[in-house]
Amino acid sequence: MSVKPEDLLARNRRWAAARRAEDPEFFRRLSGQQAPKYFWIGCSDSRVPATQIVDIDPGEIFVHRNVANLAGHTDLNFLSALQFAVEVLRVEHVVVCGHYSCGGIQAALGARSNGIVDHWIRSLRDLREKHRKILEGANGREEAADLLTELNVRTQVDNIAYNPILQAAWQRGQRIEIHGWVYRVRDGILHDLDYRRSDHEGIDESQKLSAD
Ligand code: CO
Repeated sequence: MSVKPEDLLARNRRWAAARRAEDPEFFRRLSGQQAPKYFWIGCSDSRVPATQIVDIDPGEIFVHRNVANLAGHTDLNFLSALQFAVEVLRVEHVVVCGHYSCGGIQAALGARSNGIVDHWIRSLRDLREKHRKILEGANGREEAADLLTELNVRTQVDNIAYNPILQAAWQRGQRIEIHGWVYRVRDGILHDLDYRRSDHEGIDESQKLSAD
């Protein structure tokens, strides 16, 4: 389907009118301050739009997306969003949402060079090497990609838990739970990996930071 930019603008007008008809106060409420309880780190992939796949309204999820849903310690864009989510919005949940059939994951499994993105997915190639044995035991390339997708989500959950912004928040007594989920593009279903971090005590001893 080829949708022209002017079609998108026309669709927007129809959508806004339908929302107003359904709930006359909807946009007035949103035009105040956003107060989402969720911070979502997802992939840039066009098939995984955060609010749409969990069927929730705009205003409910603060979203950061990049290729392969990475929560890097040196990514100023991500760190800015994380600090705002934790310290200003005071979200209660952080969701790392990976997805199967991810181009970034597939690229990291291969040896082909892809340009700038090779720098971005460097940590995924390191992760692939760290878990080489597990990935070699996979039944085919698709299963290996699924496994690396899940390993990546768990790694990003830990990255966020180890982040000084989260550690300081937990030490102040703020309640924030980090969840690892994976979305299957093929059937539209989100899977909870049951991999969570919810307090400073629960993180690896070697990564703990103290205030003094
Ligand atoms: Co992706």
